[in-house]
Amino acid sequence: MREREADIERHYGAADISARILDALARAGRDPERLERADLAPFDEFHGGGIASTRDLATFAGITPGLRVLDVGSGIGGPARTLAAEFGCTVTGVDLTREFVAAAQMLTARLGMGDACRFVQGSATALPCAAASFDLAWSQNMLMNVADKAAFFAEVARVLVPGGRFAFEAVLAGDGRPLHLPTFWASRPEFNFLVTLDELQALLGGAGLEAVALEDTTAQVIAAGHKRRAAIAAQAEDPAALSIAVIVPQDVGTKMQNALANNEQGRTRTVKAVYRRPA
Ligand SMILES: C[S@@+](CC[C@H](N)C(=O)[O-])C[C@H]1O[C@@H](n2cnc3c(N)ncnc32)[C@H](O)[C@@H]1O
Repeated sequence: MREREADIERHYGAADISARILDALARAGRDPERLERADLAPFDEFHGGGIASTRDLATFAGITPGLRVLDVGSGIGGPARTLAAEFGCTVTGVDLTREFVAAAQMLTARLGMGDACRFVQGSATALPCAAASFDLAWSQNMLMNVADKAAFFAEVARVLVPGGRFAFEAVLAGDGRPLHLPTFWASRPEFNFLVTLDELQALLGGAGLEAVALEDTTAQVIAAGHKRRAAIAAQAEDPAALSIAVIVPQDVGTKMQNALANNEQGRTRTVKAVYRRPA
């Protein structure tokens, strides 16, 4: 398991991601000493629907101000900062990839949001968090990398208070045909741990989590993917433009194209869901 996690960390963790981000911002005419959240929006929400789907999931989950949120697989911290700035939560982010955690900390400090968001390196299957210490667990597009989902969901149930909720977005297996690779979460089949919706629901239930709501989001993610593909093409033409390419240095155009094709051809599908630890 540790070897597999090291592979996943290598997949995401471009060296000097923080320096790449600051360079890209400077090229785009932003002042790295006076950053605003909007400056980062083209690349700091690393999941299919971007910031719109973070807002949508927060509303779907009924988030209220003051909640203590754990974001598992927090990336460079965009969703955590959105939940803090727009929904009044305090957020702890945990991510396997050290370079992403360092970038999340750097950007959050520059935005002056260190009181509301903190980031630590760790694994979803052994969360570095006390039992019953969060009101809401949160995860966007991370499940695809987790081989032992039963262990992750058991950890979610452990760290939630009784009655606490688990809100997530995930890519799921579609019609069973092989995926087009590389894509954003996997360069090779052995990094890819998609399950079907039935398997996902059984695993969540096995950890004692109860379903509150679940919806298919494939159509919205496809629409957002077309916009993101256009932004990637614009950045290839004009280095002053910003896109997800800032944090995906290798094969970003191919990964985007394959993510879209997988969803459009039914090889994958996406869902948003809210589960609950019984009170
Ligand atoms: C596609 S990115 C999504 C990042 C973030 N959730 C967002 O939406 O901006 C997937 C993230 O999951 C992290 N990850 C993958 N496997 C993990 C694990 N077992 N434990 C914690 N983080 C993991 C990766 O390092 C990466 O940052």
